[in-house]
Amino acid sequence: MSVSAESFTPTNARIAHPAYAAKVMDATAAAELIQPGDTVGMSGFTGAGYPKEVPQALAARIEASHAAGNPFSIRVWTGASTGPELDGALAKVKGIDFRLPYNSDPYAREQINAGTMQYIDMHLSQVAPMAWQGFLGPLNVALIEVSAILPDGSVVPSSSIGNNKTWLDRADRIILEVNSWQSEALQGMHDIYYGTALPPNRVPIPLVKPQDRIGQPTFRIDPSKVIAVVPTDTPDRNAPFKAPDAAANAIAGHLMEFFAHEVKLGRLPQHLLPIQSGVGNIANAVLHGLQDSPFEQLTSYTEVLQDGMLDLLDSGKLSMASATAFSLSPEAAERLNNNMAHYRDRIVLRPQEISNHPELVRRLGCLAMNGMIEADLYGNVNSTHLMGSRIQNGIGGSGDFARNAYISIFMAPSTAKGGKISTIVPQVSHVDHIDQDVQVIVTDQGLADLRGLAPKQRAEVVLAKCVHPTYRDQLADYYARALRDSYGKHSPSLLREALSWHLRFVETGTMLA
Ligand code: COA
Repeated sequence: MSVSAESFTPTNARIAHPAYAAKVMDATAAAELIQPGDTVGMSGFTGAGYPKEVPQALAARIEASHAAGNPFSIRVWTGASTGPELDGALAKVKGIDFRLPYNSDPYAREQINAGTMQYIDMHLSQVAPMAWQGFLGPLNVALIEVSAILPDGSVVPSSSIGNNKTWLDRADRIILEVNSWQSEALQGMHDIYYGTALPPNRVPIPLVKPQDRIGQPTFRIDPSKVIAVVPTDTPDRNAPFKAPDAAANAIAGHLMEFFAHEVKLGRLPQHLLPIQSGVGNIANAVLHGLQDSPFEQLTSYTEVLQDGMLDLLDSGKLSMASATAFSLSPEAAERLNNNMAHYRDRIVLRPQEISNHPELVRRLGCLAMNGMIEADLYGNVNSTHLMGSRIQNGIGGSGDFARNAYISIFMAPSTAKGGKISTIVPQVSHVDHIDQDVQVIVTDQGLADLRGLAPKQRAEVVLAKCVHPTYRDQLADYYARALRDSYGKHSPSLLREALSWHLRFVETGTMLA
């Protein structure tokens, strides 16, 4: 702090301001500044831009505290999923007592499902507003990965933005990890909008096209809150995608036909509408399908950018993409990092309350395409729970987009667990998306367009289009008996039998395999 800005020569080119350079320390020293029981708002979204060194150092400290008979844990808030160095490392040592708003880490998942880690699975657009409304309690520390601290003290975000703006504003203390693995050319890609307010002072968000920039490229930070700056060069998680299989290709094919049909009827413009593509291999396969489609000059207003989006940008099929984070394979991450300046003109990264904002999703008319675990005959969708009680990941942004999209599409292979389970069931074991929020269901068998249909009409289309042949007769027989015997005839259901589909899977041990 004694160095003046004028005479300061940075020892690390990424930490180019004296106030921050004075706070440089290693991860172990920074982890000591986190107190047992603290709530820590960390960066990180789908394995991009999460802190990697301090969480591991903290995990080592927590492990030692167990050995010393004085164990402690912390509460962790993030943007969405992170990587093994954060959720994995802390969960392995039972260091997370409470977690929100999304998790896909296997160790944390086990503890959540064993009932030993409290977990709130939230709509991702609602996390920042809820933090500001005070509903989530105080935030002690913000632990945020950034890509650079500029000479004027402004801070360049990393490969995801998520809730970082909110954590930096709300936290009492701030720890920054400055990651030099991230490309310097990320500078200028971000659009941090500081115009959100709480009711009654909310105003319209001035974004009318996916490419609009409505904010600033860097975070504003109160330097007096910064207690540590930790240099790192560890890569993002960057997991490879599976090559699309036959089911994924069939789903993509049905969707391409559907879009062409909608364009022909004049219900979609020739260049479609901004695409939102969910997480996972099926979503990535659909993006591959767009590559071979006749559609040009596409745009995307989405939450994460997977490999398929980068390919579409490369081929020129996609003119631009707006998101809050990357979620790439190692090869695609390398391609991105090597050509960041080129992509910077075509990609905008935003805070997740803007990338997923219901007002904007509705205004832009997004085509929302998300994965699901199962759907029922009436179009209710379960995205989160196996057998109604075991959480897989979380609702993520699927609800933000589904309810507000121009067309809300859910997709899955028609069977799971090697064919032992039908993903179309009499009644979903948990409801994330009510039938009113689900307009199209696609499986490898076909596409059910449910728009404008009443419940029994929906059931007939789902039965005819989406069910795997192995389960078609069984489900048709169930539905015929439900039509005859059910208490009400609006959405016919034989409750005990409907749920027995799930129980059967449990009882035969399928779910335990
Ligand atoms: N019954 C039982 N198990 C099922 C199942 C079903 N109907 N459907 C899937 N599973 C199991 C799979 O077998 C797999 O188990 P495994 O890990 O033991 O192999 C697991 O659930 C995950 O399925 P998988 O097919 O690998 O998932 P995916 O990568 O296609 O993702 C979701 C599907 C629903 C889990 C994923 O899209 C998700 O988490 N969605 C919610 C969040 C979201 O939509 N975010 C995007 C918003 S922008």
